[in-house]
Amino acid sequence: MAKSLHLFLLFFSFSSSNALVYNILNFGGKPDGKSDSTKAFIKAWKAACSSTSASTIYVPRGKYSLGLIKFNGPCKNNAIRFSIDGTLLAQRSKVGLGNLSQWVVFENVQGVKIDGGNFDGKGTDLWTHKSLIHCQGCSLGASSLTFIDSKDIEITRLTSINSELYHIVILNCKDVKVSEVKVEAPGNSPNTDGIHVQSSKDVTITKTTIKTGDDCISIGEGTVGLWIEQVFCGPGHGISIGSLGKEEVKEEGVENVTVKTSTFSGTENGLRIKTWASPNSGFVKGITFEDILMRDVKNPIIIDQNYCPHNIACPNQNSGIKISQVMYKNIKGSSTTQVAMNFECSASNPCSGIGLQNIALMYEKQPSKSTCKHAQGTSSGPIIPPSCF
Ligand SMILES: *[C@@H]1O[C@H](CO)[C@@H](O)[C@H](O)[C@H]1NC(C)=O
Ligand SMILES: *[C@@H]1O[C@H](CO)[C@@H](O)[C@H](O)[C@H]1NC(C)=O
Repeated sequence: MAKSLHLFLLFFSFSSSNALVYNILNFGGKPDGKSDSTKAFIKAWKAACSSTSASTIYVPRGKYSLGLIKFNGPCKNNAIRFSIDGTLLAQRSKVGLGNLSQWVVFENVQGVKIDGGNFDGKGTDLWTHKSLIHCQGCSLGASSLTFIDSKDIEITRLTSINSELYHIVILNCKDVKVSEVKVEAPGNSPNTDGIHVQSSKDVTITKTTIKTGDDCISIGEGTVGLWIEQVFCGPGHGISIGSLGKEEVKEEGVENVTVKTSTFSGTENGLRIKTWASPNSGFVKGITFEDILMRDVKNPIIIDQNYCPHNIACPNQNSGIKISQVMYKNIKGSSTTQVAMNFECSASNPCSGIGLQNIALMYEKQPSKSTCKHAQGTSSGPIIPPSCF
């Protein structure tokens, strides 16, 4: 009796979720941290992707060693869930060799959800290599998890550590939800951005903690409708729109980005907009920064349109990127430099429509300062530092 009830419940749970389960172990996956499980993951993906009904790929506890792995669509169903209890380990054969720019890639997929999992990019050897001055033939490294040309994507409860390059990349996608994600890499690891979003529409990033060596979240050209809420950044370089306008082409603009109820702790920058000092055209507009806490941030509020590292190829040029409608509202906390608010806009394309409301940024327990170049805007409510428009 008990047994048949159990069977009944088992049957019921399968039919109610209506999803086929593909366990990586049944495809030859080895959770021993050594054996190459790349083929097993690809086989499980092919089975799930060619199924005409919703399917789940299950990765049990253990460590799975994986090389470059591409999950390509389109698939025959739009509901593939990766349920991961295990750790994915990047294979790093030779330090700094091989020019793979990606590790785990999803391309041209729809309705994919990644739930759980630890992604270990094992970037330490490459970072050491990069820090050597004459690192010839050094590769840039590989981003850990990339979604390209995809839609209806969900990434939740995932942890990504020590990527060689960016941890998560969202490129040319639509409708992406990232939530309850953790990113962790040392504060001095090079180019290890937490999440990079580019040429994508309607992306949300919530309840996420990012401790890394480069940007917490970097926002590239063509990002429209990005919502960031309850994100913790630090260490790292903060949230950055840009850098934009490097290449000599007309860039897609960045429009409607909101960063809300978030904290920056010990970061290089807080809320940054950065464009190259070169005449390439593009725009940034409809940006809202709201309810932000800064704890010991070097540049809490900064627009830098004169970005030109090492003064190569851009001295004395003005940025062609037009920045407008940027709202800063309820931004509080401490700056580790005296200038907590710095608007350095383009001489040929001044910033317009900058709004300030209720700002309280202190430097060594005293009011901080602000500087403006080619910036126009309005302020309301108490503003510390006083606005320089
Ligand atoms: C990686 O790319 C760089 C630049 O294109 C090149 O100089 C180097 O030889 C390449 N390394 C390998 C191992 O292919
Ligand atoms: C940006 O937001 C505004 C206001 O909600 C909306 O009218 C506009 O269409 C949005 N822009 C894009 C490109 O979606």
